[in-house]
Amino acid sequence: MSTVIDGKTVAAAVLDRVKTAASTLEESHCVKTGLAVVIVGNDPASHTYVSSKSRMAKECGFVSVQHTLPEETTQDDLAAIVDRLNADPAIHGILVQLPLPPHFDADPIIQSIRPEKDVDGLNVVNAGKLATGDLKGGLVSCTPAGAMVFVRQTHGADLSGLNAVVIGRSNLFGKPMAALLLAANATVTVAHSRTRDLPAVCRNADILVAAVGRPEMVKADWVKPGATVIDVGINRIAAPERGEGKTRLVGDVAFAECKDIAATITPVPGGVGPMTIAMLMANTVIAAHRAAG
Ligand code: GUN
Repeated sequence: MSTVIDGKTVAAAVLDRVKTAASTLEESHCVKTGLAVVIVGNDPASHTYVSSKSRMAKECGFVSVQHTLPEETTQDDLAAIVDRLNADPAIHGILVQLPLPPHFDADPIIQSIRPEKDVDGLNVVNAGKLATGDLKGGLVSCTPAGAMVFVRQTHGADLSGLNAVVIGRSNLFGKPMAALLLAANATVTVAHSRTRDLPAVCRNADILVAAVGRPEMVKADWVKPGATVIDVGINRIAAPERGEGKTRLVGDVAFAECKDIAATITPVPGGVGPMTIAMLMANTVIAAHRAAG
């Protein structure tokens, strides 16, 4: 029998600590933690994620500001909003939801967020600190930070001797995940769309982390018996068995066939997803504590 990680329970424990940290800051420094979330355009999934982030910020006792901007917003308009939030002392964390509509050049926007307020950990300063093994001084991207909580729960803080395979090489997830695993002494392989014989590479993994955005791509014979499998995919697929036009969420891992081969596995939904939001709140309260000195 494998262990299926309950992301909601782990996230709730993180959020309890965040709430305590936020109220301590308020009592000691009269500072309310502030998070600003910016969304541009009409992508329904992004709107759902952003609403959850804003709602959770309120539940944590933060000042929660949401800028909901129309599709026609220009690069300069968005840059001006980020500049204003950068200068606002009541805001400790800024998140610009990705992807931005196609007429935007996202990178200059993301890089313009002050590193101290970059709660997504995407600024080159934060990404560089992580890449150079400075885990304390910067802010770490939320989804990999959340996935690492599961890894640590299962294996402890030291991953010496363990092989970790991360499928996916994005700046938002794959690269920071690999850096965190490496900092914990794992032997890390980053696999991607150009990797030869991906199933064989995955079968070598004691810790297999999938973040490719391909529904149920990781099959049972890709998984080493006894491995820890972390599924970062969130894919909406048709579910005709639930009725016409119905959909359901699945991960990048074929959960039903992999769960009895892995020793530990995360489900979708209810695995990594809740942790991403919890770690965003954690990053924001960390940023607020640092700003308050
Ligand atoms: N879109 C999907 N996940 C994320 C995330 O973690 N941060 C941002 N900014 N956009 C996203």
